[in-house]
Amino acid sequence: MSGNRTFTMIKPDAVASGYIGAILDQICGAGFKIVAMKYTKLSAEKAGEFYAVHKARPFYGELVDFMSSGPIVAAVLEKDNAVEDFRKLIGATNPAEAEAGTIRAKFAKNIGENAVHGSDSDENAAIESAFHFAGTEMFA
Ligand code: CMP
Repeated sequence: MSGNRTFTMIKPDAVASGYIGAILDQICGAGFKIVAMKYTKLSAEKAGEFYAVHKARPFYGELVDFMSSGPIVAAVLEKDNAVEDFRKLIGATNPAEAEAGTIRAKFAKNIGENAVHGSDSDENAAIESAFHFAGTEMFA
């Protein structure tokens, strides 16, 4: 059975463009409940740790630089079938391929600066949530 929580970050490009409110509005309007939220900034070390799974990829350095370039909004979201439904809501990694109306189609700049992150599995949702939040910072 699929889980009911996912993890997201509104990335530095979308924060800098003033899209926090519009993105949260779309997320909440799609039925996700915010169970944890933080406005913060990742150090290069923390960004590298978060995306360590991509260490061997050619874009890793660029990704770490970008994700530590400015503030982000990190959040844990709750909804039935959260991981899959959230990935549908945000659209493809590359905004040029994202379905019209999705968050990335509306707010992302390019495949690197793509407005939001969404966990790709229930297991990673739990790992990524715990990376940013203590249990005492989540409110069901
Ligand atoms: P995200 O869903 O946060 O997970 C990994 C991130 O790596 C992805 O979004 C993009 O921001 C980034 N990424 C993936 N593919 C590329 C690429 N080809 N070039 C640059 N960045 C990429």
